[in-house]
Amino acid sequence: MAYFFEEPSHTFAEYLLVPGYTSAECIPASVSLKTPVVRYKKGEECPLTMNIPLVSAVMQSVSDDRMAIALAKEGGISFIYGSQTIENQAAMVARVKSYKAGFVTSDSNIKPDQPLTDAVALKEKTGHSTIAVTEDGTANGKLCGIITSRDYRINHTPSDAKVKDYMTPFANLVTGQDGITLSEANELIWNHKLNSLPIIDKNGNLKYMVFRKDYASHQEHPLELLDEKHRYIVGAGINTRDYMDRVPALLAAGVDVMTLDSSEGFTEWQRRALHDIHEKWPNAKVGAGNVVDAEGFNFLAEAGADFVKIGIGGGSICITREQKGIGRGQATATIEVAKARDEYFKKTGIYVPICSDGGIVHDYHMTLALAMGADFCMLGRYFARFDESPTNKLIVNGSYVKEYWGEGSNRARNWQRYDMGGASKLSFEEGVDSYVPYAGSLHDNVTMSMSKVRHTMCNCGVLTIPELQEKAKITLVSQASLTEGSAHDVIVKTTSIQS
Ligand code: IMP
Repeated sequence: MAYFFEEPSHTFAEYLLVPGYTSAECIPASVSLKTPVVRYKKGEECPLTMNIPLVSAVMQSVSDDRMAIALAKEGGISFIYGSQTIENQAAMVARVKSYKAGFVTSDSNIKPDQPLTDAVALKEKTGHSTIAVTEDGTANGKLCGIITSRDYRINHTPSDAKVKDYMTPFANLVTGQDGITLSEANELIWNHKLNSLPIIDKNGNLKYMVFRKDYASHQEHPLELLDEKHRYIVGAGINTRDYMDRVPALLAAGVDVMTLDSSEGFTEWQRRALHDIHEKWPNAKVGAGNVVDAEGFNFLAEAGADFVKIGIGGGSICITREQKGIGRGQATATIEVAKARDEYFKKTGIYVPICSDGGIVHDYHMTLALAMGADFCMLGRYFARFDESPTNKLIVNGSYVKEYWGEGSNRARNWQRYDMGGASKLSFEEGVDSYVPYAGSLHDNVTMSMSKVRHTMCNCGVLTIPELQEKAKITLVSQASLTEGSAHDVIVKTTSIQS
C-alpha cells in the first residue's frame, strides 16, 4: 500500500513567528547573518560561508555575471545558469573572478595629440570627467597623463588646443604599481588628496584606475563576499549529463561552488554525478537537489552532496505540481529536511547545510525558512525584479516590469533540468514565461530585506541564524488570522512610503 504522510503539507504563508525575550544586547546592528554553504565536520570551520543567507536561482532570467557581482557585494552568492554552452558559462564565471573590487579598467581614454574638444566630447559621452591619456589612446596603453574637467575651461582655450597641453603629465602623477592592494591604493588616494589613482605595470602601461568614489562604495558593502585573493565568490549550476566537461571548465574559470540543478534530485543520476565529480576533483564543492523529505536528504548527504536544496513545485513560475502532481508544501519540506540534517549531524558528525529553494514571496518568509532550519534560501522571482537581472525592463499597462521565465518553460528549454534519462528534449513545459514588477537596485532591496530579517530575529531574541533555528517559536495560523495580519477594516491610503 502507498505511504501516506499523516499531516497535510504547508507553505510559509501559513506560519508566523511568536516573539521571544529580547534582551538589551539584542539589537538589529548586532545580528550576524553569517551562514555555512558547504559541508563540514564537527569542530572544524566551514570552508565556505556567506554573510547573508541568500543565493540567486540557477536561471537564465536571474543569474549571470552582473547579478553575481551585485549579490557578492552584499554578501551572498549567485549560481550562474547552466542552460548555456560550457564556454559561455565559464566566461561569465571568469568575468566575476576577474572583476577587481575597486579596480576598474579605464573606460575613457585619449591620445595626447588629440584636440581638447575630443576630451570634452568624450566626457559628454561617458559622463566621466577623468580621462586617461595613453600613447595609443587605449585602456592599457603607455600612460602619458590624466586630464580631468578641472584642467581646462573650454571657453578660455584656443580652438586648436591639444590634450597634452592641459593634462597632468605622467611626471607629476601619483601612480600605484600593479599588484597593489585596494587598501594600499586608498592610502595613496587619501594621503595625496587624489580623486583617482592610475595603476601601472612595470613598463608604464595603464592597468586600472582606482577612484575615490569607489572607495566609498567599498565602504558601503561591508559584507561583500571575497575569496582569499580578494575576488568575488561565485557559484554555477551544472547538470547530470555533461558534468565531466562542464566542471573542469568552471573550475578553471575559478568557480567557488557548484550545484546540480534539477527539478528532482533523489535520483541515481545525481548520485553518480556527485561520485564522479568528487573522485576526479576532490576539492570541488557541489550541492545537489531538489528533495522534499528526509529520505531524499539522506540519499544525497550519503552521496557526498556539499549542500542539499529543498523544494519541488513551489517556485513562482513553476507548474510542476499541475503538470505531474509531484511536490510538497515548502515549509513542511524544509522542516522535515532540517530534522534529517540535524540527525545526520548527530550520527556522523558531518553538517550538510540545506537551502530552501523557491516559493519565497514576502521577506518574512526568508526568516521563517531560516527559523525552520534552512541555512540559506535560493530565490528567483525576488532577484528577477532588480536592475541587475539579465532580462529586459519593459512598460506593461503603464508600469515597469522585468521579464522572468522558468527553466522548464519553452523559452528556456532547459531539458537537462527535467531529464529522466530519456531523449534529449523537454517533453512538456514545467514552467511559465512571465513578468514581475520592476523593483530597482539589488542593493536597496537586499538591504531592506535583511534589515527586516534582523529586526524579526531581535523580536525572537536571537542574534545568529543557529540561535534562531534553536529558539524560534513558530505557529500555524488559521485563514481568519491571515486576514487579520494585513491592513483590514480601514481604507488604506495609496501614498504610503512603505516598500
Ligand atoms: P521563486 O523564487 O519562487 O521564483 O522560485 C525559483 C525556483 O524555482 C528556482 O530556484 C528553481 O528551483 C525553480 N524553477 C526554476 N524554473 C522552473 C520551472 O520552469 N519550473 C519549475 N520550477 C522552476
